[in-house]
Formats: sequence, C-alpha cells, structure tokens
Amino acid sequence: MGGKRILLCIGGGVAAYKCLDLIRRARARGIAVTPAMTRAAAEFVTPLSVAALAGEKVHQALFDLTAEAEMGHIQLSRAADLLVVAPATADLMAKMAGGHADDLVSTLLMATDKPVLIAPAMNVRMWLHPATQRNLATLRADGVHVVGPDEGDMACGEFGPGRMAEPEAILAAAERLLAPKGRLAGRRILVTSGPTHEPIDPVRYIANRSSGKQGMAIAAALRDEGAAVTLVTGPTNEPAPAGVSLLRVETAREMLAAVESALPTEAAIFAAAVADWRAAEESGRKLKKDGSGAVPDLKLAENPDILRTISGLPPGRRPALVVGFAAETNDVVENAAAKRARKGCDWIVANDVSGGVMGGARNAVSILDASGREDWPEMGKEEVARRLAARIADWFAAETASC
Ligand code: CTP
Repeated sequence: MGGKRILLCIGGGVAAYKCLDLIRRARARGIAVTPAMTRAAAEFVTPLSVAALAGEKVHQALFDLTAEAEMGHIQLSRAADLLVVAPATADLMAKMAGGHADDLVSTLLMATDKPVLIAPAMNVRMWLHPATQRNLATLRADGVHVVGPDEGDMACGEFGPGRMAEPEAILAAAERLLAPKGRLAGRRILVTSGPTHEPIDPVRYIANRSSGKQGMAIAAALRDEGAAVTLVTGPTNEPAPAGVSLLRVETAREMLAAVESALPTEAAIFAAAVADWRAAEESGRKLKKDGSGAVPDLKLAENPDILRTISGLPPGRRPALVVGFAAETNDVVENAAAKRARKGCDWIVANDVSGGVMGGARNAVSILDASGREDWPEMGKEEVARRLAARIADWFAAETASC
C-alpha cells in the first residue's frame, strides 16, 4: 500500500478518538494520512493529537488563507487516493446526501473526484431514523462506500446498531478500495515518451516533431489497467497523466540513464522519438555570426540506442516484454520488421509518420511480433494506447497461463 494517501475527514462524535488508532494503523501500513476535522470533531479529539499521529498539519478551516495559498481545498481533496469519513455522523451524512458545502469537510467531500468511504457512528435511534436511512440510500446510490456501523453497547447507554466500525475494519475496507485493479495490477511497466532535445549551445538544440501524445496516452492506459507505470519523458507540453511516476529528461543520454534507473520492470514500451544524433561538442557559449557569412561547422555524434541497449540486457535484467516503435516514412512494414530484428525487441509498433502523425491526434499502426503482423485501422492515439495496453495484458495473461 506504499505511496497511497487517505484524506481522513473526522466528524464530531464520541468515536472520533478511534481515529487516532486508525491513523496509527494506516501509517504502519505505509498509507499517508492527511487529516481534516469538522469544528465539532475538535470537541472530541484534539487537533494536536491528530497532527502528531498523522505527522501532518490538520486542515480545519474553509477560509484559511495560508492553506489556500499552499494547497486549495479542491486540490486537497484530489491529492488523496481515497477519502475516509470517520466518524460519519448523522449530520455529516445528511450534508453529503444533500450536497451541502458550508464548511471545510463538506466542501472537500463535494469537490473530490476520488472514492469515498464512510464509517457511520451515531445513537441507534438516529441511525434507524428514516431520514438517516434515506440519506444512506442516497449516498450508496451516489457510489459512496460504507463500512459498519457495528451493533453493541453505545456511549449513550443504549444498545443496537450505530457503533463506529473498529479501526482495523475501516482500514481493511480502505485497503480494498486502494488496491490497484485491472489485468496489469501489480506489474511494473516502463514507458518512454516525447522527443529529446540535444543542445548545440545554451540557446539552440536539435529536436524533432514528437509531441509526446502517444507515449503519454500509453502510460495512462497501462495505469488504467492497474500497472505501476514509470514514465520517462523528454521535453513536452502534454500534461503528464496522474498516478504514474514521472522522470523528466532532456537528452537521449539522460533518457538512457533514467530508463536504467527505473529497471527492473516487467515490460518496457519505447514510444519516445529519441534524437539519433547530438552535437559532438556542446558549446558553453552562444555561437555567434562573425560577419563573414561562414556557418558553424556542426559536427554530430551518434546517441546511444536506448531500445537496443535494453533489449540486449541479460535475462533477469531485461524486461520480459520489450516493445519498440518504428517511425517510418516509406516501406513502413519492411523497415519496421528490419528494425525489430536489429534492435532485438519483442514487438514493434510501426507507424507511417509521413502525414501529420507526429504532433497529431490520430495514428494508424501495425504491430509486428514473432508470429506475424496485425494492422490496426486509423484511430485516436488514446484508442491506440488502450488497445496496446489490452494486448500487453493479454500477453501477460497467456504467459502466466503457460507457466
Ligand atoms: N530509439 C531509442 N534510442 C535511440 C533511437 C531510437 O530507444 N537512440 C527507439 C525509439 O524509442 C523507438 C525505436 O527505437 O522505439 C525506433 O525509433 P526510430 O526513430 O523509428 O528508429 P531509429 O532507431 O532512429 O532508426 P532510423 O532513424 O534509421 O529509422
């Protein structure tokens, strides 16, 4: 569960003290906790204790200028992987069901695009009240997940359903929601993307027309299939997908170093348009015209071939599935087949870049592997990415079945 983050919204109920144990247990499992408290919650448990156990600041006020400057409430509710409301009081549930946003916690719950888990806790009569049951049904229909309440003796002296679920049970429910889903869940996959920039002098560089769209879309599609994705990208204006580990580089040599640092992975997809050549000597100063009309004598050196380097790694270090791309302008399939053999990769995704593919939104590709060739019709780059991720998931499923 390492790397996951819960935004814990603590409501105002006697059970709020159990949140201290919940925070401790979550952190012991490698889950970071961002705490937020309602005004009433602070009557039951001190923000100081909560902050000390979470190791993070407690968010309490909606209009906190410092917090808004550091991290707005919208961002706060989206930076987490899961929102947990514990204890979810009758009042908080009513606010959520009604879509109120008049304090920090209710606003965070309205602003989020992440799954929400509530742990209701209240007096048995309040729990059984038709208004609470109506709100519960609304929240369930809205996709809110619910853990508990348990039945038992209550702080108010009554007996029945309404006790907040124990911290272990809340954490187990949270972990089920945090666990990656999809056919590539638990698989580590590396993707390279974008162009590289090879400096000539401090202001000029050698580059190409790659926008990074296809590689970014592949990283997002693999993430959506549940993979843990490391994306190594050259300079691009494309927004990087959320939820992948991102390594930004400039040059081919930096890209190779970043790729090597990300290994071992089970698959590697080389969608980057790596510059084949760099300036043999980068000038530390801007090259100037001398007035004679002479042009600089620009000498080039060949860049390392990242795909070939990784394909040639010994078994154990080499990803089990290595996928290259072939950008061709003529004899696409023949050139791509030769490239696959030369580079030693398992699959090659051939595309004709003579049209507006580089920088464009659509792509028509053929996939070449040991068993032959598959031609895909022209489609959006996102769709190419989804189909490629699905093909990779099929490949792993077949591999696992044959083991
Ligand atoms: N590639 C790489 N490192 C390089 C050059 C290319 O990793 N220095 C990878 C690309 O990411 C792609 C594949 O190799 O997956 C093929 O790239 P492409 O530009 O089509 O081919 P080149 O190797 O550059 O060959 P050529 O320019 O002769 O077509």
